Amino acid sequence: MTSHSAERETVLHSWSVQSAWDAPTVVGGKGARFETADGRSLLDFSSQSECCNLGHQHPAVVAAIKAQADRLCYVANAWGAEPRARLAELLLEKSGFTGGRVFFTLGGADANEHAVKFARQASGKPRGLVVTRDRSYHGASYAAMALSGDTRTRTQVDPADFRVAHAPPPYAYRCPFGTTDADACAARAVARVGELLAGAGAEGVAAVLMEPDAGTNGIVAPDTYWPALRAEATRRGAWLIADEVMSGFGRCGEWFAWQRHGEAGRPDLMTLAKGLTGAHLPLGAVVLSAEVAAKLEHEMLYTGLTYCGHPLACAAGVAAVEAYEREGLVARSRRLGATMLTELRAMQARHAVIGDVRGGHGLFAVVELVADREKRTPLAPWPETPPALRTLVHAGLQAGVSFATRGNLILLAPPLVIEDADLAHGLALLDRLLASHFPTHA
Ligand SMILES: Cc1ncc(COP(=O)(O)O)c(C=O)c1O
Repeated sequence: MTSHSAERETVLHSWSVQSAWDAPTVVGGKGARFETADGRSLLDFSSQSECCNLGHQHPAVVAAIKAQADRLCYVANAWGAEPRARLAELLLEKSGFTGGRVFFTLGGADANEHAVKFARQASGKPRGLVVTRDRSYHGASYAAMALSGDTRTRTQVDPADFRVAHAPPPYAYRCPFGTTDADACAARAVARVGELLAGAGAEGVAAVLMEPDAGTNGIVAPDTYWPALRAEATRRGAWLIADEVMSGFGRCGEWFAWQRHGEAGRPDLMTLAKGLTGAHLPLGAVVLSAEVAAKLEHEMLYTGLTYCGHPLACAAGVAAVEAYEREGLVARSRRLGATMLTELRAMQARHAVIGDVRGGHGLFAVVELVADREKRTPLAPWPETPPALRTLVHAGLQAGVSFATRGNLILLAPPLVIEDADLAHGLALLDRLLASHFPTHA
């Protein structure tokens, strides 16, 4: 067997400083837990990259992959494939995109890139402006980096080259417009999107691409934001693209997070990945409304990657959607998300280091740590992670729970199948770790 130190010398690991790489080697998993090569069982409080919504090694998904592998592993995306057709049907049904179409991709980044391609083609504006948000993350391929408002990758790409403009986020806790009123912050953020669209110039506007609920940036928009954004995009002649890569498939308490707002929140396109197969195989998708699809109906689509809509991945997607449905996981996420939010709010009362707690529409919540709660002073300048938080994560692993952080944020996103007792156990551990790592903030 290849050793851990051999892997360190041969593999280039993503989002890591190679010389400091020290992640555990994972050899198996079941439900909300995974096992490491050194014999530990870890409770997964982040669903790996917020993607293992069904837990690890979901038996029905694994069986569906095996059955499809016996039948047919590959056929090109321009040909027909049964699991692909079935999955498209299920996605249109769950989203209520009657008469719409689904284009399958390999993951989230290329889903977002394709959504922009389709939005531009459907609007007849090949260089139409796309407005996204500062501090957003939409993927790490070049155009997806341009769409992202991520300062860590800003030196690699100029968004203007891709005709992308960024609007300030509706970050009510630290409103970029200087108001302390959440709804006023949301209204100003939407108005700014409108201003950017209005100033698009001769090449026109194509789309607004944003997450309807929280993502790894840890910003949860006030409830008034998304419907107002929907209306503003329509007013300015832009398609609204919902990036549901992370927020979809129950993560935010609905099949798709925009559904919390009903028809007032319906986007024109939405992008999916992660929970689509529960991460059992790589797959992404762009779901197009009937109106957008109709505009592409008689035009050539000059796009597609060799493995788009791979039958094995689509079979995993069908089994995943059926598992969410059969096991009532969307409603379960909503229930456990509410429990988690209540527990985190109680923790906030005990630990002054917790400045804000947000999310909790489903099993996704964000804890923002501060140096001074009164003044809302960040514990470290964004996007740096405070050393004490790094130590906390390490101590969590030693105690058997894997927590995810970003900057000053702790992101809580366990698999939707997590047992009530395991959720309570992980939260109790977090409570103790906060007390021991931030004692001066008690
Ligand atoms: C909201 C959002 N969009 C897009 C992506 C990119 O997805 P992928 O890593 O599958 O390319 C991510 C990944 O974290 C994401 O969270």
